[in-house]
Amino acid sequence: MNILVTGGTGFIGSHTVVELIKAGHRVVILDNLSNSKELVLGRISRVLELEGIKNADLPFYMVDIRDREGLAAMFEAEPVFDCCIHFAGLKAVGESVLKPWEYYENNVYGTLVLVDEMRKAGCKSIIFSSSATVYGVPDFSPIPETAQKHAAMHPYGATKSMLEDILTDLHTADVKNGDENPWNVVILRYFNPIGAHRSGLIGEDPSGIPNNLMPYITQVAVGRLAKLGVFGNDYQTHDGTGVRDYIHVVDLAKGHVAALKAVEEKCGVEIFNLGTGVGYSVLDVVHAFEEANGIEIPYEIKPRRPGDIDSYYSNPAKAQEVLGWKAELDLVDMCRDSWNWQKNNPKGYI
Ligand code: NAD
Ligand code: UFG
Repeated sequence: MNILVTGGTGFIGSHTVVELIKAGHRVVILDNLSNSKELVLGRISRVLELEGIKNADLPFYMVDIRDREGLAAMFEAEPVFDCCIHFAGLKAVGESVLKPWEYYENNVYGTLVLVDEMRKAGCKSIIFSSSATVYGVPDFSPIPETAQKHAAMHPYGATKSMLEDILTDLHTADVKNGDENPWNVVILRYFNPIGAHRSGLIGEDPSGIPNNLMPYITQVAVGRLAKLGVFGNDYQTHDGTGVRDYIHVVDLAKGHVAALKAVEEKCGVEIFNLGTGVGYSVLDVVHAFEEANGIEIPYEIKPRRPGDIDSYYSNPAKAQEVLGWKAELDLVDMCRDSWNWQKNNPKGYI
């Protein structure tokens, strides 16, 4: 298939581009480089070479999804896309509380412009990066896709929840209007992506002090940060620290390749959790990292982080049943590959 990947130089996008090309798809990458670097393209090529694919064609457009003219020119220059995998967006929970306008404008308005230009260009299939955050404080775990969505806990979460609804409405309206070619919308709700390609050539490169657990751990391991703060040890979990469903980014990337099957089958609207179905606590992750890599991670218990919840993890059964996709890599793989990326790139992409 001919696939447009927005946000394709970012963490999840870059890994997905690799898996798409390995699976034989043609990929065009679009990114405004607000949270990634162009040199990622060269790294993707090197990963593909290691995977036996030499001189892969990687067309790249440095275009913002809010830029109608830039999008229109890109669509004009490229053959009609079969699908857009839409990663582009801002994703820092804390920042979204301080800059809500920027999050609504970039994520919601940006996606409205993107889908408008897509439909003008004859592409009405989208795979959208959503998040387990749309479940809010879930009623129970493991969480199936049919679980009730709850009020967003921050503007970032609100953008994901709204975009799920907006994209669903596009499909519904097409059906009501008798459109012979209604939108296909695949909503993928990611749990906690960590890890990196096993080559250590591409990985997660947060700017500033990391907000998320694994990049914080790897930066402690590499000596950029002194010690990990564990946010709370009085949660209702097996060791008192927060439990999440960590998923290897390469498994997550393969989930997008699998989701193309739904698009091909003209699925209408489908929602899939992408997780492992297993929850690990903060201290489980710390100890797994120490064991996998033989490095001690100094940590101290700190107060709870506002907005955090005890525990949640996915029920990933639907993705296996419908798409034939299942996470294959375990926490040891995630810890090994996260560290391999960080130790080869102590300052990230430079
Ligand atoms: P990332 O920041 O590494 O990648 C996002 C990419 O989008 C970046 O390269 C950035 O430059 C680009 N971008 C941002 N705004 C843009 C715009 N207006 N126009 C064009 N490009 C733009 O983030 P990621 O971790 O790879 O996340 C990808 C997607 O998955 C995001 O939509 C994110 O919200 C979602 N998601 C991520 C996680 C996670 O924990 N990483 C969890 C759930 C959902
Ligand atoms: N944690 C620490 N110390 C840190 C960072 C995190 O103890 O320095 C703990 C948190 O309290 C939590 C766990 O590690 O218990 C995971 O925290 P992350 O920040 O890595 O991930 P979250 O589950 O809070 O959030 C992530 C993404 C969100 C997304 C959500 C659900 O950052 O964008 O998963 O998919 F919405």
